[in-house]
Amino acid sequence: MAIDPLRLIHASPDARYPATTTIGGRPFTLRLMNQDDGPLVITFGRSLSDDDQLYLRRDITRVGEVNAWVRRLSTQQFQTLLLVDEHGDIGAYANVDRSGVPWMHHVAELRVLVGEPLRGLGTARLLTEAAFRVALEMGVEKIIGQLMVEQVDAIAVFRSLGFQPEALLRDHVKDRQGGLHDLVILSCQVGSLGSKLEMYGVTAALAE
Ligand SMILES: CC(C)(COP(=O)(O)OP(=O)(O)OC[C@H]1O[C@@H](n2cnc3c(N)ncnc32)[C@H](O)[C@@H]1OP(=O)(O)O)[C@@H](O)C(=O)NCCC(=O)NCCS
Repeated sequence: MAIDPLRLIHASPDARYPATTTIGGRPFTLRLMNQDDGPLVITFGRSLSDDDQLYLRRDITRVGEVNAWVRRLSTQQFQTLLLVDEHGDIGAYANVDRSGVPWMHHVAELRVLVGEPLRGLGTARLLTEAAFRVALEMGVEKIIGQLMVEQVDAIAVFRSLGFQPEALLRDHVKDRQGGLHDLVILSCQVGSLGSKLEMYGVTAALAE
């Protein structure tokens, strides 16, 4: 996949986005979500299968839920990266959600959702790498992913991105049908995050 790596790694945060890339032969833009993007998120949410929607913690087909997401963008604790196609429609997104509790302020949760047409093409990897940098700039030292145990493919993807399983919480999630699910917490420690970013040249770029 061709993403403008020099621009992503070496540009200042303001200059870094929007960044252009090609996925599966199609042009895409990676940019930070803004206050006007609610309707785009709802359209993306409505394009998802029932199965995908089951695993979402928010019902992003509903205006109220998406408005709550948009409001969080102004808190400095929360950032969303959107991958949009040539028509401006969302193909995938990544959320970096930093804990608001002081003793966990160094921790952020990463949530990635890739629309079906863009899966298996390295889209999650691309978004995760970009989200790591956003998290580092927010001052985050540890990133976690929270998945239901049934999300075996997604867990495998997180593991291939460098996350390690850290905890299992029994019956911790209740889905929209009332079904209980065990929750797996995977984490990427600051050491591996740091070395990964160093590998991409990000820490050097940040020190400039
Ligand atoms: C899970 C999800 C994010 C993966 O997105 P994706 O764009 O298909 O993933 P990628 O193509 O970037 O793959 C990332 C890595 O995982 C690996 N991978 C992909 N699917 C895999 C699978 N089923 N089993 C094992 N590894 C897999 C890829 O080989 C790749 O590793 P590599 O770069 O070393 O080759 C996507 O399927 C999705 O949005 N699912 C629904 C929502 C969800 O479960 N989100 C996660 C919760 S936060």
